[in-house]
Formats: sequence, C-alpha cells, structure tokens
Amino acid sequence: MTYCVRPMVKEDLSQVSAIDREVFPTQWPPPNYRQELHNRLAHYIVVYDTAKTFDDPVVSSKKNRNHFLSCLLPWLRRDHEENENSIVFSRQYVIGFSGIWLMAGEAHITNIAVREQYQRQGVGELLLVSTVDLSREQRAETMTLEVRESNTIAQNLYSKYGFKQTGVRRGYYLDNRENAIIMSTESINSEAFLAQLQRLRESLAKKLPV
Ligand SMILES: CC(C)(COP(=O)(O)OP(=O)(O)OC[C@H]1O[C@@H](n2cnc3c(N)ncnc32)[C@H](O)[C@@H]1OP(=O)(O)O)[C@@H](O)C(=O)NCCC(=O)NCCS
Repeated sequence: MTYCVRPMVKEDLSQVSAIDREVFPTQWPPPNYRQELHNRLAHYIVVYDTAKTFDDPVVSSKKNRNHFLSCLLPWLRRDHEENENSIVFSRQYVIGFSGIWLMAGEAHITNIAVREQYQRQGVGELLLVSTVDLSREQRAETMTLEVRESNTIAQNLYSKYGFKQTGVRRGYYLDNRENAIIMSTESINSEAFLAQLQRLRESLAKKLPV
C-alpha cells in the first residue's frame, strides 16, 4: 500500500466532492471545485491510495467504448491515449485533498480534508507538507488559513507545522455563525522553518506507507 500525491484534475471532482460532503456535512454553499480548477489563483492536490481503485460505472463504459473506437478508427488513437490517461486518473482512489489560493506572496489554505476511514494515519500531514512544498514552488513567502474555533484537531495539525494564531473572524461561518481562528506561518523559506519541516518530513516518512 502506498499513498501518492499529485495535482487535482477534473476526473477527481466526484470523489473530491464526496469527501467534502463527508467531512464538512454542514458547510453551505458547498465549494465549487470545478470552478476552482479554472481559477488561476488556485492550486489543488490530491492524495490517492495505490492499493485501491475507484469503480465508477460511467468510467467502465467509457473505457469499453474508447477501446472499440480506437480499434475501428486508428486515427482516433491520440484521442484514445488522452482518454486512457483520463481513465487512469478516474480509477485512482482519492483519500484526501488540499488547496491554496496564492495572493501577494501569501498562500491561503482553502481546504484540507481526509476521508474519515483514512484519518489518524498521517495523511493530513502528508497533505500539509505537500501544500507547503507547493506554496514554496509558487514562490509564496508565508501561509495562512481560517479554521473553526471548535476544530481543535485541525488546529493541532497546523500548530505542529508552525502555524500560530494571528487573529479571529467573529461569526465567520454561515451555518452556525462560529468564529474562525486565523492561523499563519512566519516565512516558509526561513532556515528555522525549513529545518523544522525537514524534521517533521523525516518522522512522517517513518509513519506513512509511501
Ligand atoms: C484535520 C484533518 C485533515 C487531519 O487529518 P489526519 O490524516 O487525520 O491527521 P494526521 O493523522 O496526519 O495527524 C496529524 C496531526 O493532526 C492532529 N490530530 C489528528 N487527529 C487528531 C485527533 N483525533 N485529536 C487531536 N489531534 C489530532 C495531531 O496534531 C496530529 O499529529 P500527531 O499524530 O503527532 O498527534 C482531518 O481530521 C480531517 O479531514 N478533518 C475534517 C476536515 C477538516 O476539519 N479540515 C480542516 C479545515 S481548516
């Protein structure tokens, strides 16, 4: 069993939305991830379990049709190859995802979520480490996020990686008017931050089947 991280693609949308509904049942309106994939400020990643496949009947019937067409019409082969890639993505079993918006050198974590069945195994950490890497690749200098005041689990995760409370947005969440805690990092390119990230990455590697 191995967990792999890659950019989110449109083939992931049904699984991502299902995870979103599972872990944020009260959130309204639900985020529009299809729109997010077209948002130039947004960058999303998913983590999938290589030991499992996602069985979607629509994908299976598409696969049969594509195979039939490419045998019949060889000049359709390029389309066929693209479709095959699409089918590979569609069958990967997504177990979590996260995303950022990049604004003025700051990476704002929009979401991080792990299927309930896969929680407490280090997948949240894998996503957070990968999100920091992604933010650095995109030349962000700092990271920030909002988290529900009651969500101490997520706050623990962020604190472990050097996020500190920097403010409160009163009544921020529309479903129950709960306050949001704002948590931010210092420079994610500083020696101190990178040394801590490396330590955490090493201990995560021992914990995770990657
Ligand atoms: C928050 C979330 C992403 C964490 O994912 P996860 O895969 O379960 O977390 P991990 O196993 O990687 O744990 C990482 C750290 O998170 C904290 N944590 C995770 N589960 C916890 C629990 N049940 N109680 C307390 N702290 C917990 C700990 O600090 C833990 O580090 P540790 O193992 O050294 O104690 C996951 O619980 C989730 O999807 N929650 C619902 C969605 C959500 O609230 N997202 C955050 C929105 S801001």
